[in-house]
Amino acid sequence: MKTLTLNSFAKLNLYLSVRNKLSDGYHSLQTVFERINVCDKVVLRVRRDDKIVCLCDDPGLPADSRNLAVKAALLLSRRYAVGKGATIRLIKRIPQGAGMAGGSSNAAAVLIGLNRLWRLGLSKAELCSIASRVGSDVAFFIHECRFALAEGKGEKVRPVRELRKRLLWHVILVPDLHASTPLIYKQWDKLRANKNIDISRLTRPVSGAKLILSALRQKSGHWLEQCLFNGLEAAAIDLYPGLARVRRVLTMAGVPNICMTGSGSAFFGIVSSRKEALRFSRRLKKLNRRWHVFVARTV
Ligand code: C5P
Repeated sequence: MKTLTLNSFAKLNLYLSVRNKLSDGYHSLQTVFERINVCDKVVLRVRRDDKIVCLCDDPGLPADSRNLAVKAALLLSRRYAVGKGATIRLIKRIPQGAGMAGGSSNAAAVLIGLNRLWRLGLSKAELCSIASRVGSDVAFFIHECRFALAEGKGEKVRPVRELRKRLLWHVILVPDLHASTPLIYKQWDKLRANKNIDISRLTRPVSGAKLILSALRQKSGHWLEQCLFNGLEAAAIDLYPGLARVRRVLTMAGVPNICMTGSGSAFFGIVSSRKEALRFSRRLKKLNRRWHVFVARTV
């Protein structure tokens, strides 16, 4: 086997509660990930030399080690596969700076794919240990599951087995704004230090993750609205006031169960069917022609 083509799916955070700032500047958190069918393609080819070469159809993305796919391949090669090279071709569909983890997902696909192509025989745990050095969201995609609860910096991932057949439909609204994750976490620190802010907008007790998981187990879904939460939303809107419009446009269109994903800029709703998602999508496109609208489901 010389080449391999992999789907590299996006994620949504149905719940994200930031807890504390750690001594290395990162934050401990609790999050519920969902893998969705908005998807890039990652094409891997073994090279005769030991180079890692990246080709990407989006000229705006770096093709060097700033690209998480390249960073992952270099780490894997240095640790386990001395002398092996690969060409990585990225066909991008997942929007950038939207909180949908396109770069992290590409990195995970590279780790999974090169483990096979280079015949390294590494376990999930070994791949996760490299994944967590690439970025906080990478380990989730190594598990190849629908839903997971993650803790630590986001890298301690536990797939939720009871939800392995659960399927949600979404409409996702992506504004023309790249949100900077490090700046949003810094803004969260500032808000956290402000005595006047309502703390429940920034963080939730540990029981919050249990509540959303039990709401997801129930088919009816009328509980969900109160359980969806993103502690970075207040910081994101403080930093980019235009983001408040994204939630407003979804509300105006009548979309239920609205939440921001990751550090934004995308917001999504949970709807009852593909048909309903398409109906909302048409409405949202009329309300704002510049922003991107995706209809997606759990995968
Ligand atoms: O790990 P990743 O590269 O996705 O993180 C991007 C940035 O987001 C980090 O440099 C850090 O500023 C912030 N971050 C954080 N705590 C986390 C995850 C990310 O502070 N748990």
